[in-house]
Amino acid sequence: MTEQTRDITIESLMSEDRSFPPSEAFRAQANVSSESIYEEAERDLEGYWAKQAEKLDWFRPYDTVLEWNAPYAKWFIGGKLNISYNCLDRHVRNGGGEKIAYYWEAEDGERREISFAQLLEDVCRCANALKELGVRKGDRVAIYLPMILELPVAMLACARLGAPHNVVFGGFSAESLAGRINDSEAKILITADGGIRKGNVVPLKANADDALQSTPSIEHVLLVRRTGEDVPVADGRDIWWHDLVPQQQTECEPEQLDSEDMLYLLYTSGTTAKPKGIVHTTAGYLLGVMTTHEMVFDIKSDDVYWCAADIGWVTGHSYIVYGPLANHTTGVIYEGVPDFPARDRWWEIIERYKVTVLYTAPTAIRAHMKWGTEHAEKHDLSTLRLLGSVGEPINPEAWLWYHKYIGGERCPVVDTWWQTETGAILIAPLPGITSLKPGSATRPLPGVEADVVDEQGNSVPAGGGGYLVLKKPWPSMLRGLYKELERYEETYWSRFPGMYFPGDGAKRGEDGYYWLLGRVDDVMNVSGHRISTMEVESALVSDQRVAEAAVIGQKNDLTGEAIFAFVILRGETEPAPDLGEELRQYVGRKIGAIARPKQIMFTPELPKTRSGKIMRRLLRDIANDRALGDTTTLADSSVVETIRTASAASKSDE
Ligand code: WTA
Repeated sequence: MTEQTRDITIESLMSEDRSFPPSEAFRAQANVSSESIYEEAERDLEGYWAKQAEKLDWFRPYDTVLEWNAPYAKWFIGGKLNISYNCLDRHVRNGGGEKIAYYWEAEDGERREISFAQLLEDVCRCANALKELGVRKGDRVAIYLPMILELPVAMLACARLGAPHNVVFGGFSAESLAGRINDSEAKILITADGGIRKGNVVPLKANADDALQSTPSIEHVLLVRRTGEDVPVADGRDIWWHDLVPQQQTECEPEQLDSEDMLYLLYTSGTTAKPKGIVHTTAGYLLGVMTTHEMVFDIKSDDVYWCAADIGWVTGHSYIVYGPLANHTTGVIYEGVPDFPARDRWWEIIERYKVTVLYTAPTAIRAHMKWGTEHAEKHDLSTLRLLGSVGEPINPEAWLWYHKYIGGERCPVVDTWWQTETGAILIAPLPGITSLKPGSATRPLPGVEADVVDEQGNSVPAGGGGYLVLKKPWPSMLRGLYKELERYEETYWSRFPGMYFPGDGAKRGEDGYYWLLGRVDDVMNVSGHRISTMEVESALVSDQRVAEAAVIGQKNDLTGEAIFAFVILRGETEPAPDLGEELRQYVGRKIGAIARPKQIMFTPELPKTRSGKIMRRLLRDIANDRALGDTTTLADSSVVETIRTASAASKSDE
């Protein structure tokens, strides 16, 4: 039995009733300003999406909007299009070639900007180079690059040829890279000599060379020079980008692809050790990311939009590359970390490019909170008009901090719920009409039918908690797991027959608002009560002295599980002996005695994946004294040791 199928009824104990309606000024200029869009989509789902699909450029119109043989969907059947054409050519043809597509900034301060017309030329050159290396429609191309412009160029070049890309985040190890290459049987690997992070070199080529020891499908490596380091170049196999790409023709006919042709594969972690290859296709995916980008971020033609994620994750695929480019939006790409060379780097970037929309993750927001407001205060952030959050439930305190100190209390904060599997945002506010509530992703977007159900799959009455499910197909949904159809059905569609189960717990209020409670495998069971780890964390971080908290269930003979909290204090606070007790009582007051942590451990760091997610499974292992699982996705493996030592010390103190 997987953790997900544990018998769970989630009790939701915290309430948050602050509400932020849209300002008159925001509403008046918003892309979506009428509630009727929800009814329209509900009345006629296919009609709604057909109308949206008019925003795409088709080589051949589709015949049928949707074919739904649960759990398999096909959208816009018979249509022919090309995503790179939709992201680039059509804007250039419409006279928009001069517009900046990306402002790029290196960690060391180097800057480049690239227009839509130049980006199109670069993409064509890269596509022609890939053709020269033997890439044809349907071939898989692995991409292992840092946050440099060659990354979106390579992705769009693949999309132009109809060769599905498989981007592997630059922080992954050689072994992870090899696993993904082999699973997808990629023919070409595009990588760089190295990446740059906090002033240090990330040895991408060395990792790639290790991986390439066991990847028989790879015929060639296209190698970008980024750091200028001396790296081995294998004769015949490795080709420098600068030796092959620049001299190619600047025109390359886009393939006329089928709506359901595969655009990309992206691997994501599941409950087992083997990552799942999420498959996204062409028309539905593009429509999903384009419409949500336009509606949720209220994108206008003069916006300067910055999604601070890494392109190696789905957020970067959908909301740095495909959605924004399809909408002809100017974006910012920053190569490095937020605190290099100083903690005001992000705010400096916002001031420099006059960023209007910022999209980031709660974990980053909490890091900035921990560092203090003085860094943002040094910069003019007055161009910002909307803020977004994604990746995990945002605790109300982080939301309010973001809203006040970054958004100057004038920018709506859109909390966007979605997954690698969903391709695009599914639950989020429409900022011109939705009243925001800190901590709630608010309502399912038009055309999205969500529900909160109990163990048996029955709708939970308003105010109750349960499992989030999706009851209708949506255009950008995954089309399966690569070469693992059975696993697709089992993972997402077997828990509640006929419904898609994302693995998240949620509560729905009387007002229909959704409150995401985290993954259901992060839910604790204390004395027969099930409590969301996230709720306890949120309570803890609402104490001014707490910067970050991670809560897990620790095995307990008496209560089944006991709440164990790892707590990082803000800079100036000392972990005094009575502070733990104070915080326990505070959580008890905030949520209820049942949610009071049994143990609080102060720690300087938390183990996180490179994408910033706290690795709760590791914390559970530490708290339960089990052997450690795989730590290769950790940002800093020494963190685990630090915590282990602190844990041992705190136990011997007892
Ligand atoms: C979580 C990232 C609460 C959720 C786009 C989901 C969120 C998982 C939110 C997907 C949010 C993402 N509120 N939880 N706004 N956004 N999640 O595949 O548990 O990296 O299932 O996609 O992140 O993570 P993934």
